[in-house]
Order: sequence, then C-alpha cells, then structure tokens
Amino acid sequence: MLSALAIANYRSLRQLTVPLGRLTVVTGANGSGKSSVYRAMRLLADIANGGVIRSLVREGGLSSTLWAGPERFSAAMRRGELPVQGTRRNEPVALKLGFAGSESDEFGYAIDIGLPPPSPPMPPTAFSHDPEIKHEAIWSGPLLRPAAQLVDRKGAALRLREGKSWQAVGRPIPAFASMMTEYADPHAAPEMLTLREQMRSWRFYDHFRSDADAPARQPQLGTYTPVLANDGADLAAALQTIREIGDDEALDRAVDDAFPGARIEIRVAEDRFETLMHQHGLLRPLTAAELSDGTLRYLLWIAALLTPRPPSLLVLNEPETSLHPDLLPALGRLIAQAARGSQVIVVSHAARLIAALEDSEDLQSVVLEKQFGETRIANLDMSEIPRWEWPAR
Ligand SMILES: Nc1ncnc2c1ncn2[C@@H]1O[C@H](COP(=O)(O)OP(=O)(O)O)[C@@H](O)[C@H]1O
Ligand SMILES: [Mg+2]
Repeated sequence: MLSALAIANYRSLRQLTVPLGRLTVVTGANGSGKSSVYRAMRLLADIANGGVIRSLVREGGLSSTLWAGPERFSAAMRRGELPVQGTRRNEPVALKLGFAGSESDEFGYAIDIGLPPPSPPMPPTAFSHDPEIKHEAIWSGPLLRPAAQLVDRKGAALRLREGKSWQAVGRPIPAFASMMTEYADPHAAPEMLTLREQMRSWRFYDHFRSDADAPARQPQLGTYTPVLANDGADLAAALQTIREIGDDEALDRAVDDAFPGARIEIRVAEDRFETLMHQHGLLRPLTAAELSDGTLRYLLWIAALLTPRPPSLLVLNEPETSLHPDLLPALGRLIAQAARGSQVIVVSHAARLIAALEDSEDLQSVVLEKQFGETRIANLDMSEIPRWEWPAR
C-alpha cells in the first residue's frame, strides 16, 4: 500500500505531500488543485510506461506545467506588505514527483525533472528543449534516508546498493529516459522490476464518454475482458466477464442498488456482445445505445469497480460527472466495496459522494485549498502529514 504521494512545482502544487489511506478522498473548491493531483499520479504511471517526457510535452512543456509562483514566499509577501515577486533563484527549476510505501518491505520512488543546460548541446540535436530527467531514487520504507536508499540515478549515472557499498552500472542512462524503463536486471536490481510492474498495474479512470457516438454505446466484438478499457468500449464483454469469473451477485446487487428492480443482460450474437437493461415498467429491454447518459456511465463504473482483477491502486477522477445526484450514495457504496480489493484514490467535488464514503474503513480525507496561488491541505495539520525527503541533486 502507498502511504504518501509527494509533488513539487507541478502547476499549483508547489510542495504538497498527500497522506494516503486504503481509501483516499481528495476534494476542494474549483481550482484548488484536485485535477493536478490526479494528473501527477498519471505522470508517475507514465514513467513506468516510458512516456513521461512525452506526456509533459503534450501538457504544454515544462515551462507551462512548472509552478508559476515564486520559489519562496517571504513573510511580508504573505502579510500582503510586499507584492508577490520572484527573487533570485537559489535552486534549479525542478518538477518532482514521488510516492512511498507504508511498510519497510515496500518501496518508495522519486523523480526530478528539469530543463537541459543552457549551453548548446554536443552533439547538436533538434530535441535540445526536451525536459531532462536529472535524478531518480528508490528506497525501502516510508521515508528516503541514506541507509534506506537502494537505487540512485544522477544524470546518466546509475548506482545500485550492494550491502553497505554502491555498485555503478556501466551503461549510461539517456537524459530523456527513466531508469525504470531503461534498466531491467532481475538479478542486480529486482526491486526496480517489482516497482515498475506495480506502477504499470495502477489503473486510472477519468471521464467516460456517453454521447451518442460513445464507444460504450456500440455493439462490440467480445473477448474475455477482466479490465474495462478507459473509453468503456468493451463494456458488454467486461460485464459478461464479471458474470462468469467475478462476483456475479455483486453485479446484480449493484444494478439493483442504483436502479431498483432493474437487471442487466448481455446478449451475445455470434461474436457481437450487447448490453441490455431490463427496467421496471418497460416491455422490452433497452440497449446501450438507448440508455440515458447517467445510466450508461453508472454501468461503466460498475464494470470498472467490480473488476475480477483488482489492481494494487485504482485512481478515479470525478466519478460523479453526469450522474444524477440520487445515484451518488450507491456509487459511494460501490467505491467502498472496491477499496476492499484495491487501494483507491478518488478525486471528487460531489458532497453526496463524499458523504457516502465517510464511514469507510481507513479513510483518508484530503481537502485542498489555494493560498497565494499555491495548493495546500486545509483539513490536516503538520503532524498528520507524512515526512518527505526529496533526493538531493
Ligand atoms: N504553472 C502553474 N503555476 C501555478 N498555478 C497553476 C499553473 N498552472 C495552472 N495553475 C493553477 O492551478 C490551479 C489548479 O487547477 P486544477 O488542478 O485543475 O483544480 P481543480 O481540479 O481543483 O479545479 C488552477 O487554479 C490554475 O490556475
Ligand atoms: Mg478539476
């Protein structure tokens, strides 16, 4: 289980450490930084899939994603006696992301991404403006301490701990690549592979499409589908997979909980799968193409959350989008149930959903607010926020 997520200099998250529970609910007013927390988690997963630099460039490059405020706020700036202004930078520009595990046999990871040196690169390259990975570290336990560090990457140089000493890896790591995808040696560094596979297994669900042309509305070629696709295109096959190898009764209960008296049927014609919904008072079932936006989205959440292959971490961004408020308590029960099989982080703006999750076991509630343009945690004091150390450059 992850115990903390840490982010520095990413959009409004100048320096944020988020404690994580079995179920973590991140909430806050518009513009407080909720989506940025979600995107930071996605960037971490992108690292293990080899796409973090591309994702950053797609977001507008490091220059637009980096914290736009001053390196530090002086007391006078906070009191409003001095305008907020930049002072001379003491530290290099750095976007940092990391997470830690709660137990000593779990791993923590951090990355530090910066700008290339201003001098013209040798040999010349057209990619000289790409962000560079400056530093990465893996350690065991909740806090990066020198004695707990297992892997250390500085620039191109990778070192692995061997007992009390460090062993240098001969091959240089290119500036645009993470050590997590560049180096894979099951004997020399098994913890890197374990961690990479763990990060790759994290599952993210963001807004499902439910417009008339949404993939979930079309009949589908069905194959065995233990994990619902991000666009929901394989909804019928995912529901049928839950029927066959998952918790069939939980599926029926979840549908009935949200739509009393209703029932789901998957019609299979040749290799085409179609989702049908039988409802009270209707003489024939409705197809996915005919369901309301909210009903379709709810079925997508059922398929995502009752997955027969729960991931170690499930991250949901504003699952309330386009759902009728009356459905939110049932959605909360579904999320609480998913948190028994996976660690879950929910980013949400919906009071009724948050209220429905309030009694969950090992719940961590995180309320974000913005102060001087900077995201802070409003509902926790210093003692409730885990200690965090970034690797030194
Ligand atoms: N580079 C940046 N530096 C500082 N603040 C930024 C930067 N980019 C965006 N922001 C601010 O970050 C805030 C957080 O946005 P977002 O995460 O989308 O909030 P939410 O999802 O809670 O509505 C916005 O108010 C935006 O003005
Ligand atoms: Mg948002």
